[in-house]
Amino acid sequence: MTELTPEQHRLLLSCAETHGTPTYVYFEGTIVRQIQTLKKHLSGLPLRLLYAMKANHSLPVMQTMLREGLGIDAVSPAELMYALKVGFPVDRVLFSANNMTDGEMHFATGRGVMLNVGELSRLEAFGKAYPGSDVCVRLNGQVGAGHHEHVITAGDRSKFGIPVEHVEEIHAIAAKYSLTIVGLHQHIGSGIMDTKTLWQAISVILDASTSFKDLRFINVGGGLGIAYRPDEQDLDMSSFDDLIVEPLKAFIDQHPSEDLSIWFEPGRFFTAQCGVLLARVNTVKEGTVRTFAGTDSGMNHLVRPAMYGSYHHVLNLSNPDGKHKTYDVVGNICESSDFFAKDRQVAELREGDIIGVLDAGAYGMSMTTTYNMRSEPAEVWIDADGSQCLVRPRRTVEEMVAHEMRQA
Ligand code: LLP
Repeated sequence: MTELTPEQHRLLLSCAETHGTPTYVYFEGTIVRQIQTLKKHLSGLPLRLLYAMKANHSLPVMQTMLREGLGIDAVSPAELMYALKVGFPVDRVLFSANNMTDGEMHFATGRGVMLNVGELSRLEAFGKAYPGSDVCVRLNGQVGAGHHEHVITAGDRSKFGIPVEHVEEIHAIAAKYSLTIVGLHQHIGSGIMDTKTLWQAISVILDASTSFKDLRFINVGGGLGIAYRPDEQDLDMSSFDDLIVEPLKAFIDQHPSEDLSIWFEPGRFFTAQCGVLLARVNTVKEGTVRTFAGTDSGMNHLVRPAMYGSYHHVLNLSNPDGKHKTYDVVGNICESSDFFAKDRQVAELREGDIIGVLDAGAYGMSMTTTYNMRSEPAEVWIDADGSQCLVRPRRTVEEMVAHEMRQA
């Protein structure tokens, strides 16, 4: 998304005025649209959709997912407990903690949540502790993809999943402890626009699935990308239909089991476009070769540009018709990696202007830190009829300090 509707533009300025900056604003309508898009394309399949809550676990986001009938991919005890508290039924939550501890295993199992196990040693520990149980295993089919090497989660360099070459060991452990492998899982990476590679990965798992006789689901993960740049195309949904949905339907039609379903668990595809980070320009400074627009937010609030060199479109909401000039749009953090955009054309920025950093609804707030002892941004929810609600206020300086003093 690189443009706003006039109504969104108006609402964002009104949020900045009412709640100040820095503030994340989420539009419910965009999330619902994305969910419905994916449901429509997957409609012919026996399907379950999970939401990878690591993308954005703001309460109204979670409640929207629940209302839309989604389940949850949880990766930590707190994610799991929070999802259950929000109201997700245990049988719609899958626990995929990485390097799972015994404590985490008991925490999830004790609450009736199924484990997704990515290591043979964890499968062994689970079998010992809970013989005769159902379990899902995460495979690494050695095909990975993603928008940056840091987000590729399969392949021989990846720490995730049990290599598909070790399927025999999985069967041996399952037999030893009478475990039933009811689910196979993969997640090959994030921000994938290339449906061919995604299918290549899925087909490895489908091939491997033939040796698992009690499967109730195959979870093909998340990873669906969105367009961040003005010149980028959205994920090509017609090639998604042709290269992924149709072959999955054919697989299901030929599968001997009557009740095998396919699960997807996206995060970004559902929430990225719903979110805008609002910040205020505090300082405009002419350097010798650059003009810096310094804001009251930064990499502590949206780390994606610093961490992956990710592009987020930046709009000057206060002066949209200003003459375009070239800026480095930076934050107030003491690091030179602290930027939202470099060498970017933006409508003239003046001190006091409000900027919107777009497509920040996934891996924005959920990756926020309080580096430099600056509070997290506020969060505002805008529901489908345009009413706004402050979900989380910013912490005051006094609250930030009190938090540290209690730990001293
Ligand atoms: N399932 C599992 C097991 C995952 O680890 C993830 C994301 C997902 C599903 C959802 O992936 P998605 O549909 O959102 O691509 N911080 C990075 C993205 C890291 C993704 C981590 N795992 C970024 O900002 O690009």
